[in-house]
Amino acid sequence: MAEHHTNEVDAVTGVTTTGHEWDGIRELNNPLPRWWLWTFYACIVWAVVYWIAYPAWPLVSNYTSGVLGWKSRDAIEVQLANLRTQRGAFAEKLDAASLEQIEADPELLAFARAQGRAAFGDNCAPCHGAGAAGSRGYPNLNDDDWMWGGSLEQVQQTIQHGIRSTDADAHVGDMPAFGRDAMLTRPEIVAAADYVRSLSNLPVPAGVTTDLAKGKEVFEANCAACHGADGKGNIELGAPNLTDAIWLYGSDRDSVIATITNGRGGIMPAWAGRLDPTTIKALTVYVHALGGGR
Ligand code: HEC
Ligand code: HEC
Repeated sequence: MAEHHTNEVDAVTGVTTTGHEWDGIRELNNPLPRWWLWTFYACIVWAVVYWIAYPAWPLVSNYTSGVLGWKSRDAIEVQLANLRTQRGAFAEKLDAASLEQIEADPELLAFARAQGRAAFGDNCAPCHGAGAAGSRGYPNLNDDDWMWGGSLEQVQQTIQHGIRSTDADAHVGDMPAFGRDAMLTRPEIVAAADYVRSLSNLPVPAGVTTDLAKGKEVFEANCAACHGADGKGNIELGAPNLTDAIWLYGSDRDSVIATITNGRGGIMPAWAGRLDPTTIKALTVYVHALGGGR
Protein backbone atom coordinates (compact mmCIF):
# COMPACT_ATOMS: atom_id res chain seq x y z
CA MET A 1 0.00 0.00 0.00
CA ALA A 2 1.34 3.39 -0.90
CA GLU A 3 0.38 6.81 0.56
CA HIS A 4 -0.36 9.59 -1.92
CA HIS A 5 -1.33 13.22 -1.52
CA THR A 6 -5.07 13.53 -0.95
CA ASN A 7 -6.26 16.05 -3.51
CA GLU A 8 -5.39 13.82 -6.40
CA VAL A 9 -8.30 13.53 -8.86
CA ASP A 10 -9.27 10.24 -10.43
CA ALA A 11 -9.00 10.54 -14.18
CA VAL A 12 -11.98 8.32 -15.06
CA THR A 13 -14.63 9.72 -12.67
CA GLY A 14 -13.24 13.14 -11.92
CA VAL A 15 -13.68 12.56 -8.21
CA THR A 16 -10.92 13.31 -5.68
CA THR A 17 -9.41 10.28 -4.06
CA THR A 18 -8.77 9.72 -0.36
CA GLY A 19 -5.17 8.95 -1.08
CA HIS A 20 -5.62 5.29 -0.18
CA GLU A 21 -4.45 2.87 -2.78
CA TRP A 22 -4.32 -0.93 -2.83
CA ASP A 23 -2.44 -2.59 -5.59
CA GLY A 24 -3.25 0.24 -7.94
CA ILE A 25 -6.92 0.47 -6.92
CA ARG A 26 -7.63 3.92 -5.51
CA GLU A 27 -10.41 4.88 -3.13
CA LEU A 28 -12.72 7.65 -4.34
CA ASN A 29 -13.72 10.26 -1.81
CA ASN A 30 -17.47 10.16 -2.53
CA PRO A 31 -19.79 11.58 0.15
CA LEU A 32 -22.11 9.07 1.89
CA PRO A 33 -25.54 8.91 0.19
CA ARG A 34 -28.03 11.16 1.95
CA TRP A 35 -30.65 8.43 2.46
CA TRP A 36 -27.99 6.33 4.18
CA LEU A 37 -26.94 9.14 6.52
CA TRP A 38 -30.52 9.94 7.50
CA THR A 39 -31.26 6.28 8.21
CA PHE A 40 -28.14 6.20 10.37
CA TYR A 41 -29.18 9.30 12.35
CA ALA A 42 -32.74 7.92 12.72
CA CYS A 43 -31.32 4.71 14.20
CA ILE A 44 -29.36 6.69 16.77
CA VAL A 45 -32.43 8.67 17.77
CA TRP A 46 -34.50 5.45 17.92
CA ALA A 47 -31.89 3.79 20.16
CA VAL A 48 -31.85 6.72 22.60
CA VAL A 49 -35.65 6.77 22.80
CA TYR A 50 -35.67 3.00 23.31
CA TRP A 51 -33.11 3.17 26.14
CA ILE A 52 -35.29 5.69 27.93
CA ALA A 53 -38.59 3.88 27.34
CA TYR A 54 -37.61 0.22 27.85
CA PRO A 55 -35.31 -1.83 30.09
CA ALA A 56 -31.90 -1.47 28.47
CA TRP A 57 -28.68 -1.05 30.39
CA PRO A 58 -27.35 -3.49 32.98
CA LEU A 59 -26.33 -1.87 36.25
CA VAL A 60 -24.30 -3.37 39.08
CA SER A 61 -27.19 -5.25 40.74
CA ASN A 62 -30.15 -4.14 38.64
CA TYR A 63 -30.90 -2.61 35.26
CA THR A 64 -32.41 0.59 33.86
CA SER A 65 -36.09 -0.32 33.93
CA GLY A 66 -37.34 2.25 31.40
CA VAL A 67 -40.06 4.86 31.86
CA LEU A 68 -42.80 2.66 30.36
CA GLY A 69 -42.39 0.04 33.11
CA TRP A 70 -42.55 -2.84 30.59
CA LYS A 71 -41.47 -6.25 31.93
CA SER A 72 -41.03 -9.45 29.91
CA ARG A 73 -42.56 -11.28 32.92
CA ASP A 74 -45.83 -9.33 32.48
CA ALA A 75 -45.91 -10.18 28.79
CA ILE A 76 -45.64 -13.89 29.65
CA GLU A 77 -48.39 -13.58 32.22
CA VAL A 78 -50.71 -12.08 29.62
CA GLN A 79 -49.92 -14.97 27.28
CA LEU A 80 -50.52 -17.51 30.05
CA ALA A 81 -53.85 -15.90 30.94
CA ASN A 82 -54.87 -16.09 27.27
CA LEU A 83 -53.93 -19.74 27.19
CA ARG A 84 -56.01 -20.42 30.30
CA THR A 85 -59.10 -18.83 28.78
CA GLN A 86 -58.50 -20.74 25.58
CA ARG A 87 -58.30 -24.05 27.44
CA GLY A 88 -60.97 -22.76 29.79
CA ALA A 89 -63.88 -25.13 29.96
CA PHE A 90 -61.81 -28.24 29.18
CA ALA A 91 -59.15 -27.51 31.76
CA GLU A 92 -61.79 -27.13 34.46
CA LYS A 93 -63.46 -30.34 33.37
CA LEU A 94 -60.14 -32.15 33.49
CA ASP A 95 -59.45 -30.82 37.00
CA ALA A 96 -62.71 -32.26 38.25
CA ALA A 97 -62.98 -35.50 36.29
CA SER A 98 -61.89 -38.91 37.53
CA LEU A 99 -59.65 -41.04 35.32
CA GLU A 100 -62.65 -43.18 34.35
CA GLN A 101 -64.73 -40.11 33.48
CA ILE A 102 -61.92 -38.84 31.25
CA GLU A 103 -61.70 -42.18 29.44
CA ALA A 104 -65.46 -42.21 28.90
CA ASP A 105 -65.59 -38.72 27.34
CA PRO A 106 -63.92 -38.75 23.89
CA GLU A 107 -63.52 -34.97 23.70
CA LEU A 108 -62.06 -34.67 27.17
CA LEU A 109 -59.86 -37.68 26.51
CA ALA A 110 -58.42 -36.07 23.37
CA PHE A 111 -57.75 -32.87 25.32
CA ALA A 112 -56.11 -34.76 28.19
CA ARG A 113 -53.93 -36.78 25.81
CA ALA A 114 -52.73 -33.65 24.04
CA GLN A 115 -51.87 -32.12 27.40
CA GLY A 116 -50.25 -35.38 28.49
CA ARG A 117 -48.17 -35.54 25.34
CA ALA A 118 -46.83 -32.02 25.92
CA ALA A 119 -46.04 -32.76 29.57
CA PHE A 120 -44.38 -36.01 28.54
CA GLY A 121 -42.06 -34.18 26.15
CA ASP A 122 -41.07 -31.76 28.91
CA ASN A 123 -40.62 -34.19 31.79
CA CYS A 124 -40.39 -37.81 30.72
CA ALA A 125 -38.75 -37.85 27.29
CA PRO A 126 -35.21 -37.33 28.67
CA CYS A 127 -35.40 -40.83 30.16
CA HIS A 128 -38.12 -42.64 28.22
CA GLY A 129 -37.36 -41.12 24.81
CA ALA A 130 -39.47 -38.67 22.77
CA GLY A 131 -41.67 -41.46 21.44
CA ALA A 132 -41.65 -43.22 24.85
CA ALA A 133 -39.79 -46.12 23.24
CA GLY A 134 -37.28 -46.22 26.09
CA SER A 135 -33.74 -47.55 26.02
CA ARG A 136 -31.63 -49.90 28.11
CA GLY A 137 -32.79 -49.52 31.71
CA TYR A 138 -35.64 -47.20 30.72
CA PRO A 139 -38.77 -49.08 29.82
CA ASN A 140 -40.61 -48.73 26.56
CA LEU A 141 -44.04 -47.37 27.47
CA ASN A 142 -45.56 -48.21 24.09
CA ASP A 143 -45.80 -51.93 24.63
CA ASP A 144 -48.43 -53.60 26.78
CA ASP A 145 -45.81 -55.06 29.11
CA TRP A 146 -46.09 -53.38 32.50
CA MET A 147 -43.68 -54.13 35.31
CA TRP A 148 -45.81 -52.27 37.83
CA GLY A 149 -49.24 -52.73 36.30
CA GLY A 150 -51.05 -51.15 33.38
CA SER A 151 -54.42 -50.16 34.79
CA LEU A 152 -55.17 -46.43 34.99
CA GLU A 153 -54.78 -46.48 38.77
CA GLN A 154 -51.53 -48.42 38.63
CA VAL A 155 -50.01 -46.13 36.02
CA GLN A 156 -51.08 -43.10 38.04
CA GLN A 157 -49.57 -44.59 41.20
CA THR A 158 -46.27 -45.17 39.38
CA ILE A 159 -46.13 -41.62 38.00
CA GLN A 160 -47.17 -40.04 41.27
CA HIS A 161 -44.86 -41.85 43.65
CA GLY A 162 -42.14 -43.19 41.39
CA ILE A 163 -40.12 -46.38 41.58
CA ARG A 164 -37.41 -46.78 44.24
CA SER A 165 -37.63 -43.01 44.57
CA THR A 166 -37.43 -40.99 47.78
CA ASP A 167 -41.25 -40.87 47.97
CA ALA A 168 -42.66 -42.80 50.96
CA ASP A 169 -45.24 -44.51 48.73
CA ALA A 170 -42.84 -45.38 45.92
CA HIS A 171 -42.72 -48.87 44.45
CA VAL A 172 -39.91 -50.76 46.15
CA GLY A 173 -38.12 -54.09 45.70
CA ASP A 174 -34.86 -54.83 43.94
CA MET A 175 -33.51 -57.61 41.83
CA PRO A 176 -30.98 -59.14 44.26
CA ALA A 177 -27.27 -59.32 43.40
CA PHE A 178 -26.90 -63.11 43.56
CA GLY A 179 -23.25 -63.09 42.53
CA ARG A 180 -21.94 -60.02 44.29
CA ASP A 181 -23.67 -61.00 47.51
CA ALA A 182 -22.47 -64.62 47.18
CA MET A 183 -25.95 -66.18 47.20
CA LEU A 184 -25.19 -68.26 44.11
CA THR A 185 -22.00 -69.59 42.56
CA ARG A 186 -20.94 -68.57 39.08
CA PRO A 187 -22.02 -71.92 37.49
CA GLU A 188 -25.42 -71.61 39.18
CA ILE A 189 -25.83 -68.08 37.84
CA VAL A 190 -24.86 -69.15 34.31
CA ALA A 191 -27.28 -72.09 34.46
CA ALA A 192 -30.08 -69.80 35.68
CA ALA A 193 -29.31 -67.30 32.92
CA ASP A 194 -29.48 -70.02 30.26
CA TYR A 195 -32.72 -71.31 31.74
CA VAL A 196 -34.28 -67.84 31.78
CA ARG A 197 -33.19 -67.25 28.19
CA SER A 198 -34.71 -70.60 27.18
CA LEU A 199 -38.06 -69.42 28.56
CA SER A 200 -38.28 -66.91 25.71
CA ASN A 201 -36.63 -69.24 23.18
CA LEU A 202 -33.53 -67.12 22.79
CA PRO A 203 -30.77 -68.74 20.71
CA VAL A 204 -27.82 -70.24 22.58
CA PRO A 205 -24.50 -68.74 21.39
CA ALA A 206 -22.30 -71.13 19.35
CA GLY A 207 -20.00 -73.32 21.41
CA VAL A 208 -22.00 -72.93 24.63
CA THR A 209 -23.40 -75.98 26.43
CA THR A 210 -26.30 -75.24 28.71
CA ASP A 211 -27.53 -77.16 31.74
CA LEU A 212 -31.21 -76.28 31.67
CA ALA A 213 -32.15 -78.90 34.30
CA LYS A 214 -29.80 -77.30 36.79
CA GLY A 215 -30.96 -73.82 35.71
CA LYS A 216 -34.58 -74.79 36.38
CA GLU A 217 -33.62 -76.03 39.84
CA VAL A 218 -31.79 -72.78 40.65
CA PHE A 219 -34.72 -70.80 39.29
CA GLU A 220 -37.32 -72.60 41.35
CA ALA A 221 -35.27 -72.23 44.52
CA ASN A 222 -34.16 -68.61 44.09
CA CYS A 223 -36.17 -66.75 41.50
CA ALA A 224 -39.70 -68.12 41.40
CA ALA A 225 -40.64 -66.29 44.63
CA CYS A 226 -40.52 -63.01 42.74
CA HIS A 227 -40.74 -63.88 39.05
CA GLY A 228 -43.34 -66.64 39.54
CA ALA A 229 -42.95 -70.39 39.01
CA ASP A 230 -43.65 -69.90 35.30
CA GLY A 231 -41.35 -66.83 35.08
CA LYS A 232 -44.26 -64.58 34.09
CA GLY A 233 -43.38 -61.97 36.71
CA ASN A 234 -45.24 -60.19 39.51
CA ILE A 235 -46.39 -56.59 39.32
CA GLU A 236 -46.64 -56.33 43.12
CA LEU A 237 -42.86 -56.70 43.24
CA GLY A 238 -42.03 -55.09 39.90
CA ALA A 239 -40.46 -58.40 38.88
CA PRO A 240 -40.63 -58.45 35.09
CA ASN A 241 -42.03 -61.20 32.94
CA LEU A 242 -39.02 -63.23 31.81
CA THR A 243 -40.87 -65.21 29.16
CA ASP A 244 -41.68 -62.40 26.73
CA ALA A 245 -39.44 -60.83 24.13
CA ILE A 246 -39.20 -57.59 26.12
CA TRP A 247 -35.96 -57.01 28.00
CA LEU A 248 -35.15 -53.97 30.08
CA TYR A 249 -31.48 -54.77 30.51
CA GLY A 250 -30.73 -56.79 27.39
CA SER A 251 -31.37 -60.40 26.44
CA ASP A 252 -27.89 -61.45 25.31
CA ARG A 253 -26.27 -64.05 27.56
CA ASP A 254 -23.71 -61.67 29.10
CA SER A 255 -26.37 -59.10 30.00
CA VAL A 256 -28.60 -61.67 31.68
CA ILE A 257 -25.62 -63.09 33.60
CA ALA A 258 -24.69 -59.53 34.64
CA THR A 259 -28.27 -58.87 35.81
CA ILE A 260 -28.27 -61.96 38.01
CA THR A 261 -24.73 -61.34 39.28
CA ASN A 262 -25.02 -57.65 40.17
CA GLY A 263 -28.76 -57.16 40.57
CA ARG A 264 -30.84 -54.29 39.19
CA GLY A 265 -32.92 -51.48 40.60
CA GLY A 266 -34.01 -48.84 38.10
CA ILE A 267 -35.05 -45.53 39.63
CA MET A 268 -38.00 -43.50 38.38
CA PRO A 269 -38.57 -40.18 40.19
CA ALA A 270 -41.86 -39.33 41.92
CA TRP A 271 -43.85 -36.55 40.24
CA ALA A 272 -46.40 -35.68 42.94
CA GLY A 273 -45.39 -32.25 44.21
CA ARG A 274 -43.42 -31.48 41.06
CA LEU A 275 -46.34 -31.66 38.67
CA ASP A 276 -49.86 -30.60 39.59
CA PRO A 277 -52.53 -33.32 39.94
CA THR A 278 -54.23 -32.36 36.66
CA THR A 279 -51.00 -32.75 34.71
CA ILE A 280 -50.39 -36.13 36.36
CA LYS A 281 -53.91 -37.15 35.35
CA ALA A 282 -53.25 -36.06 31.75
CA LEU A 283 -49.97 -37.98 31.75
CA THR A 284 -51.72 -41.05 33.13
CA VAL A 285 -54.27 -41.24 30.34
CA TYR A 286 -51.61 -40.40 27.74
CA VAL A 287 -49.21 -43.15 28.91
CA HIS A 288 -52.07 -45.59 29.47
CA ALA A 289 -53.28 -45.10 25.90
CA LEU A 290 -49.75 -45.41 24.49
CA GLY A 291 -49.15 -48.76 26.02
CA GLY A 292 -52.35 -50.59 25.35
CA GLY A 293 -53.25 -50.01 28.98
CA ARG A 294 -55.03 -52.67 30.93
C1 HEC B 1 -34.81 -40.02 35.52
C2 HEC B 1 -35.37 -40.89 34.52
C3 HEC B 1 -36.87 -40.98 34.42
C4 HEC B 1 -37.76 -39.96 34.19
C5 HEC B 1 -37.49 -38.48 34.06
C6 HEC B 1 -39.05 -40.58 34.08
N1 HEC B 1 -38.94 -41.93 34.23
FE1 HEC B 1 -40.44 -43.28 34.14
N2 HEC B 1 -39.16 -44.76 34.60
C7 HEC B 1 -37.79 -44.63 34.73
C8 HEC B 1 -37.20 -45.93 35.01
C9 HEC B 1 -35.72 -46.22 35.21
C10 HEC B 1 -38.27 -46.83 35.06
C11 HEC B 1 -38.16 -48.33 35.33
C12 HEC B 1 -38.00 -48.58 36.77
C13 HEC B 1 -37.88 -50.06 37.02
O1 HEC B 1 -36.86 -50.62 36.63
O2 HEC B 1 -38.81 -50.62 37.60
C14 HEC B 1 -39.49 -46.08 34.80
C15 HEC B 1 -40.75 -46.62 34.76
C16 HEC B 1 -41.90 -45.94 34.42
C17 HEC B 1 -43.23 -46.54 34.36
C18 HEC B 1 -43.57 -47.97 34.70
C19 HEC B 1 -43.51 -48.87 33.51
C20 HEC B 1 -43.95 -50.25 33.82
O3 HEC B 1 -43.57 -51.15 33.04
O4 HEC B 1 -44.69 -50.48 34.80
C21 HEC B 1 -44.09 -45.55 33.95
C22 HEC B 1 -45.58 -45.68 33.73
C23 HEC B 1 -43.31 -44.35 33.78
N3 HEC B 1 -41.99 -44.63 34.08
C24 HEC B 1 -43.82 -43.13 33.37
C25 HEC B 1 -43.10 -41.95 33.40
C26 HEC B 1 -43.67 -40.65 33.17
C27 HEC B 1 -45.12 -40.38 32.81
C28 HEC B 1 -42.66 -39.75 33.33
C29 HEC B 1 -42.74 -38.23 33.24
C30 HEC B 1 -43.64 -37.58 34.14
C31 HEC B 1 -41.45 -40.48 33.63
N4 HEC B 1 -41.76 -41.81 33.66
C32 HEC B 1 -40.23 -39.89 33.84
C33 HEC B 1 -37.07 -43.47 34.61
C34 HEC B 1 -37.62 -42.21 34.43
C1 HEC C 1 -36.76 -60.26 45.47
C2 HEC C 1 -37.39 -60.45 44.20
C3 HEC C 1 -36.54 -61.04 43.07
C4 HEC C 1 -35.87 -62.23 43.05
C5 HEC C 1 -35.75 -63.24 44.16
C6 HEC C 1 -35.31 -62.35 41.72
N1 HEC C 1 -35.62 -61.26 40.99
FE1 HEC C 1 -35.06 -60.93 39.05
N2 HEC C 1 -35.89 -59.10 39.15
C7 HEC C 1 -36.58 -58.58 40.24
C8 HEC C 1 -36.95 -57.21 39.94
C9 HEC C 1 -37.71 -56.28 40.88
C10 HEC C 1 -36.44 -56.92 38.66
C11 HEC C 1 -36.56 -55.62 37.92
C12 HEC C 1 -35.45 -54.67 38.30
C13 HEC C 1 -35.58 -53.32 37.65
O1 HEC C 1 -36.64 -53.04 37.09
O2 HEC C 1 -34.63 -52.54 37.70
C14 HEC C 1 -35.80 -58.14 38.20
C15 HEC C 1 -35.20 -58.25 36.95
C16 HEC C 1 -34.66 -59.44 36.46
C17 HEC C 1 -34.13 -59.59 35.14
C18 HEC C 1 -34.04 -58.50 34.07
C19 HEC C 1 -35.17 -58.63 33.08
C20 HEC C 1 -35.08 -57.65 31.95
O3 HEC C 1 -36.13 -57.37 31.37
O4 HEC C 1 -33.99 -57.20 31.60
C21 HEC C 1 -33.70 -60.89 35.03
C22 HEC C 1 -33.07 -61.54 33.82
C23 HEC C 1 -33.98 -61.52 36.29
N3 HEC C 1 -34.55 -60.61 37.14
C24 HEC C 1 -33.69 -62.82 36.57
C25 HEC C 1 -33.75 -63.37 37.85
C26 HEC C 1 -33.23 -64.64 38.19
C27 HEC C 1 -32.59 -65.63 37.24
C28 HEC C 1 -33.44 -64.79 39.53
C29 HEC C 1 -33.02 -65.94 40.42
C30 HEC C 1 -31.62 -66.30 40.39
C31 HEC C 1 -34.13 -63.61 40.00
N4 HEC C 1 -34.29 -62.77 38.95
C32 HEC C 1 -34.56 -63.42 41.29
C33 HEC C 1 -36.88 -59.21 41.40
C34 HEC C 1 -36.37 -60.43 41.78
